[in-house]
Amino acid sequence: MGAGPPLALVPTMGALHAGHVSLMRRARKLAGPAGKVAVSIFVNPAQFGPGEDFSRYPRTFAADCRLCEEAGVDFIFHPEPDDMYPAGFSTHVEEERVSPGLCGKSRPGHFRGVCTVVLKLLNILGPDIALFGEKDYQQAAVIRRMVRDLNVPVRIVTAPTVREADGLALSSRNAYLTPEERAQAPVIRRALLLARDVAPARPADLARLVRREIATAPLAAIDYIEILDAHTLERPGPATRELVIACAAFFGKTRLIDNIRRKS
Ligand code: PAJ
Repeated sequence: MGAGPPLALVPTMGALHAGHVSLMRRARKLAGPAGKVAVSIFVNPAQFGPGEDFSRYPRTFAADCRLCEEAGVDFIFHPEPDDMYPAGFSTHVEEERVSPGLCGKSRPGHFRGVCTVVLKLLNILGPDIALFGEKDYQQAAVIRRMVRDLNVPVRIVTAPTVREADGLALSSRNAYLTPEERAQAPVIRRALLLARDVAPARPADLARLVRREIATAPLAAIDYIEILDAHTLERPGPATRELVIACAAFFGKTRLIDNIRRKS
């Protein structure tokens, strides 16, 4: 951060796909012709729980480098776990208000790991702008709050979710799905669209609608469906103008998340 040409950072865990690329292209535009774009590629052990997929998370570094180059990325930061968490590492960042619900409830400690690594990346690379995807809606909200609360001198920009033709949100974890699971996974998007487009309804009715639609897919097991204020991620109240409908569902062992916004 400084008076020189801007630096825009896209933090990732690699296994890059068109969703990541859209963030890189947006970063390229925001940085401008004189600015630089950095991508970090780091599968962050601190944000995975004990039974989660840290060791089998896809690692495709050579292909990732090619995608970065095509998207006009100037720098790739690819540290090893020991670089980020050397022996004796003992400081973590915990956002306490936005983190506990939704994914934070199903994945205890997840956002502590995300905040810690993102703050480290911001401190190491010093970007003027950092970009995050709306697909991970709660993650972006947690990071915005952390940056605000801790006076981190960076502008947070969020960008829309990139999807497959059938509506499934692109995710590195889609690679885990069996063909049968993959065929049923777009039910999440269909359910969220139904809830977005239905006439005004109470949050509980919207949640029921989403639940009922997802239940039509026999391989889907709902983790959560939550209807929250899109800006605070708290329970909707009289001041709520916009809702976010957020959903997580398992297909086999694979947990997929998605969300959509609608007027309250
Ligand atoms: P990762 O899952 O690799 O995602 C990196 C960024 O890409 C995140 O901001 C995420 O929201 C965005 N993204 C993922 N899928 C997307 C899609 N279909 N469309 C648009 N953007 C998408 O999120 C993480 O890594 C990590 O938690 C990280 C922030 C890097 C910290 O370790």
